[in-house]
Amino acid sequence: MNKSLLSLILAVAGWAVFHYGLFPIFTPKELGWLQNQYVYYLLFCFYLIVVNVGMKLQPPMAQKALYVWLLGFYFYDSILTPHIPWTLFVTYMMLWSIGTFLYISQDPTTFREFRSPIVKTIIGEYKMARIVVFTALPILVGFATYNTLYPSFAEPVELRTVHPAPPSTTKVHGVTYKLEEAGNPFRTDEQDNYKDSFPFLDDSEYMKNVTAGGTVFFQNCHYCHGDQLNGLGMFSHAFNPTPANFIDPGTIAMLQESFLFWRVAKGGPGLPNESTPWSSAMPPWEEHLTTDEMWKVILFEYWYTGWHPRTFDTEGATAE
Ligand code: HEC
Repeated sequence: MNKSLLSLILAVAGWAVFHYGLFPIFTPKELGWLQNQYVYYLLFCFYLIVVNVGMKLQPPMAQKALYVWLLGFYFYDSILTPHIPWTLFVTYMMLWSIGTFLYISQDPTTFREFRSPIVKTIIGEYKMARIVVFTALPILVGFATYNTLYPSFAEPVELRTVHPAPPSTTKVHGVTYKLEEAGNPFRTDEQDNYKDSFPFLDDSEYMKNVTAGGTVFFQNCHYCHGDQLNGLGMFSHAFNPTPANFIDPGTIAMLQESFLFWRVAKGGPGLPNESTPWSSAMPPWEEHLTTDEMWKVILFEYWYTGWHPRTFDTEGATAE
């Protein structure tokens, strides 16, 4: 049998026995001075020496160089604990490659011996190897280039609570509101009687407040939340998360007005610390609007969308 092939088989089999058989047994959680993976790494080196020198197989220089190089790779990748950072690994492997090259080029004979299979592949008699190498190489380079240049469109997974738990109280313009109890002071009509009324034409108290809220909305909010309140305002595409769509049954329709009041007043900066980063572009409106304006814009959002704010059921209501 071919000597170099025999040496390769021995090296691979020896490595497999070491890596899958010995190594796991002798890497206990607590390292003793003998029960220690470095000792077994030395054993592994000894085994390599036995294979390559003791058995006098004399594999070709290129193969020896490969053994030496892989030895370093295996050491830095698997034996050394804790595992070193990737950049350090690359640095060490570069140094190790230089060392391997020094070993190869120590004298002209070994260097010529190392070169010979490479030269034979490129211009000599190794025709089959040449075909394989020169087809595989461009494909590999092309694939690597494609992989690095092709953008991955998948967004990073980010778990986000859309409706965070509100605090029990919130302080706006010096007044403390209990969110469970606070209601919209302008909601004089609980039955939604004004659904079909026209702003500016209907001069009932309720519709005047809705109209005032609409004015606030179109002066401040429609840039993001859209002039149809569907979250598609002209700036909306720049934000992630996108501005809330009030038409959607999953937003204001399932929230209490006091929750909205808290969200409008405090905006993105006022969101609780849990589940950060919120990355919310919603401005804290208490800095620009009065308390009344905030309640009115909320009134307008419900009037426009036709939703009714969520309320607490009175005790026993569900039992009927
Ligand atoms: C700069 C863009 C921007 C402007 C202007 C803006 N918002 Fe928002 N708003 C957002 C974004 C983005 C969200 C969704 C992210 C979040 O939940 O914080 C949001 C969320 C909300 C929510 C929470 C809805 C829910 O389902 O929890 C309410 C209520 C709200 N906005 C009301 C308003 C009101 C009222 C105004 C005007 C006074 C306004 N927003 C102006 C960007 C904006």
